[in-house]
Amino acid sequence: MSWMLLIYVPLMALGCLFLYDILQKEHSILRTYPVIGHIRYIAEFFGVYLRAYFYSRDREELPFNRAQRSWIYQASKNVDSTVAFGSTRDLRPIGTMYFVDAPFPIQYEDAVETRAVTFGPYCANPFTTRSLINISAMSYGSISENAILALSQGAKKAGIWLNTGEGGISAFHLESGCDLVAQIGTAKYGYRTPDGKLSDEKLKEAAAYPQVRMFEVKLSQGAKPGKGGLLPGVKVTPEIARIRGIPPYEDSVSPNRFPEIANPSQLLDFIQHVREVTGKPVGFKVVLGNYDWLDDLCIEIVRRGIESAPDFITLDGKEGGTGAAPLTLMDYVGLPIRESLPALVDLLMGYDLKDRIKVIASGKLITPDMVVWALAVGADFVNSARGFLFALGCIQALRCNRNTCPTGITTHNPWLMRGLDPTSKAVRVYHYVKNLEHEVGVVCHSCGVSEPRELNRNHVRIVTEHGDSVALAQIYPPKDLGWKLEEFVRKKTDK
Ligand SMILES: Cc1cc2nc3c(=O)[nH]c(=O)nc-3n(C[C@H](O)[C@H](O)[C@H](O)COP(=O)(O)O)c2cc1C
Repeated sequence: MSWMLLIYVPLMALGCLFLYDILQKEHSILRTYPVIGHIRYIAEFFGVYLRAYFYSRDREELPFNRAQRSWIYQASKNVDSTVAFGSTRDLRPIGTMYFVDAPFPIQYEDAVETRAVTFGPYCANPFTTRSLINISAMSYGSISENAILALSQGAKKAGIWLNTGEGGISAFHLESGCDLVAQIGTAKYGYRTPDGKLSDEKLKEAAAYPQVRMFEVKLSQGAKPGKGGLLPGVKVTPEIARIRGIPPYEDSVSPNRFPEIANPSQLLDFIQHVREVTGKPVGFKVVLGNYDWLDDLCIEIVRRGIESAPDFITLDGKEGGTGAAPLTLMDYVGLPIRESLPALVDLLMGYDLKDRIKVIASGKLITPDMVVWALAVGADFVNSARGFLFALGCIQALRCNRNTCPTGITTHNPWLMRGLDPTSKAVRVYHYVKNLEHEVGVVCHSCGVSEPRELNRNHVRIVTEHGDSVALAQIYPPKDLGWKLEEFVRKKTDK
């Protein structure tokens, strides 16, 4: 009797499924091919994983290929990352980048410690750091409490900063005592009055934490230019809702712009206000598209005096990541960091503001080669979000917006989050940074410079359409923008 059941129950289940498929009107494939049509959905679901583990070649997957991910996994586990036999990298395609080694490299014993950099020399509490690579903004909400604990403990151990993202400051950020950059998003979560205005009181409360070293005004981020932060309701737990000052389990959608910042002048006013209230360095984060407005910004800074300048600009490339964003914005809007970073650095140099305004670059700068490129182009610091997620064990399941992250990073499901042990993952964060810094140093010494910030555009060459390479210094020669200032002064005097 029982073996009969083994046959009849599955047959009846298949029969029911057949009837359901053929009668439903939502999916035409299932209506036409009842039961077997489900194979398509199963293949679609598992395809991501099959491609990642079996079919994709080492250097072809996006957003990050296996070669990049493996380097980070090995670096964060602090295991041997050397390879044998020869490079599998194709050096022929146009745009391929390589670095220029020196005939007489720097001997390791002559290498010097990365020099310290000071932010905000004109504010009450400047911030001096020796870090080079730091943890980019990811809010408590977009990532779990265990992920934040691991990142902040790792940041403390490695002597780097952690950006809070636009969800405000949580106890998990503060616990380890690492340096924090407090981000103010367009919804001002954590720093707002009940009617959504900027609260000086809350700014002062945040600034009172000694760990909070700087404030970052987030104008935009690479993955979604012109759109505010988006945290799906399923991830808005009561604790996250409390910190943000919003109702739980409802979508948390930030405005797409600060209502009080509509031009460069208002941006400087806002920055100056936050700096005066908090006494700490203040900068802004942006992804560039049209960058003509930066001329107006620089001219306004020169006009007001360099104290009025933002203490830093965090430049995110359009290839940047996110917890959730519309695909079209992600795919099509904004400039990649490869184009926008040289443009920003040239502009600041052209107005003689490069020393005053530190440049922090982000956008897939997660492996030593890309960090070297960014520093050679003129960045003072590199930020990474997803590099650190890989260090925490991210497998690129692409489910950050669904609360079902299998590695416990972008989910608040207690069972999934339990898989991420903050203490052991903090050690991985530490090793990732240290090995990244080490390998950047190895390239620097090979190029004949003793300190990463001495790299320049002559150290990077790019393959052109003729198959030969040219130095970046030739592609992006220095610009003198003094004439724009003179023109501005002349126009003012003519009036
Ligand atoms: C899960 C996740 C959450 C993020 N949350 C924020 C945020 O709150 N504020 C922000 O400015 N950027 C946010 N970002 C963007 C990152 O800070 C960073 O600018 C971008 O991912 C580029 O760095 P990467 O290529 O190293 O990931 C987030 C990115 C990820 C992956």
